[in-house]
Amino acid sequence: MRILIVGATGTIGKAVSNALSDQHEIITASRNGDVKVDLSDPQSIGRMFETVGKVDAVISTAGSGKFGPLDQLSDDDFAFGLGNKLMGQINLVRLGRDYVNDGGFFTLTSGILAVQPNPASVLLTTLNAGLEGFVRAAALDMPRDQHISVVSPPAVRETMEKMGWGRGGVLVADVAQLYVDSLTAEHDGLTIDFHQAA
Ligand SMILES: NC(=O)c1ccc[n+]([C@@H]2O[C@H](COP(=O)([O-])OP(=O)(O)OC[C@H]3O[C@@H](n4cnc5c(N)ncnc54)[C@H](OP(=O)(O)O)[C@@H]3O)[C@@H](O)[C@H]2O)c1
Repeated sequence: MRILIVGATGTIGKAVSNALSDQHEIITASRNGDVKVDLSDPQSIGRMFETVGKVDAVISTAGSGKFGPLDQLSDDDFAFGLGNKLMGQINLVRLGRDYVNDGGFFTLTSGILAVQPNPASVLLTTLNAGLEGFVRAAALDMPRDQHISVVSPPAVRETMEKMGWGRGGVLVADVAQLYVDSLTAEHDGLTIDFHQAA
């Protein structure tokens, strides 16, 4: 397959790219990547698809939003998170459907905070849950037998180590396997996590 990975330079994106590159043609995109795209800018997403052309799958491992308790999140924090992680990935689907071949795949990224919130995750929990709802409904309305699912990563060990948060979490290579698994029709509309994959 010809697969576009948005966020391919990140911790998860690199592992997904490694897991797929033996058997597939991989095109990598991000703000500073091979192909340039800023998910928070719909025009930039449109330009990316014009540059890349037709693909069999689009995987997003990008998207950010701020941690913090509700009374410390500003209007700008909400606007940034909504425009970046939530609408950025939704726009990837809205603007990318014409560029994905018949029977192709979209895989988005949410996160465990959707279902295991903490007091500082109110914005990320909202964004992640919104993405999972979007995918559940969009799967009923995809053209030309296209498929869509969302991976919900757990805390990644390499990220925890990088952030100095201890040695918990799941190895990123194992998380990457969830994205490999997403490229089948049986996951249509689903949130893919270790619980679902077990
Ligand atoms: N790591 C974890 O423990 C964990 C757990 C649960 C969920 N997640 C979710 O998984 C996703 C990836 O996490 P990660 O840890 O791999 O992140 P990361 O290491 O910070 O990488 C983020 C990637 O996205 C790209 N990116 C950031 N903003 C972008 C934008 N506006 N437009 C296009 N590309 C953009 C970055 O490249 P450029 O800087 O070149 O744009 C980079 O390739 C995020 O949505 C995160 O919330 C992560």
